[in-house]
Amino acid sequence: MRIATKLFFLLFSITCVFAQPPKPQSAPKTIYIHAGHIFDATSESLRDNVVIVVEGDRIKSVAPASTAIPAGSTVIDLSHATVLPGLIDCHTHLAFRADRYDPINYFKETPFTHGFTAVRNAHSTLLAGFTTVRDVGSPPFAAVDLRNAINEGSISGPRIVASGPGISITGGHGDINGFSPETHVGLFPEHRGYQIADGVDQVRETIRAQIKYGVDVVKILATGGVLSQGDSPGAPQYTFEELKTAADEAHAAGRKIAAHAHGAEGIRRAILAGIDSIEHASLANEEDMQLAKQHGTYFVMDIYNDDYILGKAIEFGLPQENVNKEKMVGRLQRENFEKAFKAGVKMAFGTDAGVYPHGDNAKQFKYMVQFGMSPAQAIRAATFNAADLIGRSKDVGTIEAGKYADLIAVSADPLQDVRSLENVGFVMKGGTIYKDKITNGPVATIE
Ligand code: ARG
Repeated sequence: MRIATKLFFLLFSITCVFAQPPKPQSAPKTIYIHAGHIFDATSESLRDNVVIVVEGDRIKSVAPASTAIPAGSTVIDLSHATVLPGLIDCHTHLAFRADRYDPINYFKETPFTHGFTAVRNAHSTLLAGFTTVRDVGSPPFAAVDLRNAINEGSISGPRIVASGPGISITGGHGDINGFSPETHVGLFPEHRGYQIADGVDQVRETIRAQIKYGVDVVKILATGGVLSQGDSPGAPQYTFEELKTAADEAHAAGRKIAAHAHGAEGIRRAILAGIDSIEHASLANEEDMQLAKQHGTYFVMDIYNDDYILGKAIEFGLPQENVNKEKMVGRLQRENFEKAFKAGVKMAFGTDAGVYPHGDNAKQFKYMVQFGMSPAQAIRAATFNAADLIGRSKDVGTIEAGKYADLIAVSADPLQDVRSLENVGFVMKGGTIYKDKITNGPVATIE
């Protein structure tokens, strides 16, 4: 390039930089929400007649409704509703769909179909009142990209705490089993949301690579599963040493780690290894519950799933092997939910959304109440406790000054009827309203 041309380009780019108008520094918008009742999740009780002041994307204050609201302010009238913190689901798979139960589908999906599915599911999850989710495996690293796109504001969805593919042993819950050794399907397990790692060295390397790709949390599969082929939910699938390596490696990088575990021995190993949450925990025994209590390990028990798996999933081609496994595990899991809660194990709300359709997450509350919790305790499992498990208590989980303005509202009293959460009428995330069937005011549109 000639000097003159170079100079031209240099000057041109400098002009471009200076030609950008400075971003207007307008004051953050203030919204006053008049709540008839609020369940702020800092305790188990309701308060009446409160004004929540939202400034920009955060809550500025929470005060009695007698507080003076300056003339001309934007006020949202939820005086006939109950306002709660945005709900949190700690176990979702946003790229999974609940009408794909024939294993042949493994070979039909592409990263694009998973991506499209994830975008749609993120939207329906948000509109159902779940303003934060932990995604514990969406193929291949869809949850990480989805999190970034939502944070950039290019699509609408909940805040996402993203894992990479779930880490599985060869032949385990995350592998593709039952084909002849001559069969090369050309399909990598991560395409289905899993990675295979055997032995402490591979486990360590896999976790380091996942952290390099930007995961917030690690997911490891410590026992067999219900919806996989050729393994048993009760059987442990990693040694204690492998699980300990995984927990240490995740923690060293400042990440939490969740373990899929149905069977008692796998749960025991995972707790002793220092894993932060046991997912499913279906066959937990007394010893597991005591250990979880001592170690402060959360149980995240997906006790709605059984209805859907033994209903619709069969219609969508679920193999008999999986139906049989669900029959072994599902009902016991509900009984063990009650035992674990009564034993004092910390419980956080998680549903395994993707096994059933995204957006139906709140259907689990009914079972949490049927199996031992009060509605207030069930809601706190999906707000205060869930925020603690995912390490985001500073930002979400309660309605308090300084937290994100992630607020939902329902018309009925959720402490009388927890199922009212299945019909969330108002959803605000970070000060932006995405749904308002209560006042029918304007909502943010998705580009
Ligand atoms: N993803 C889990 C698995 O395949 C689903 C278990 C669902 N069943 C239940 N009762 N929670 O193991």
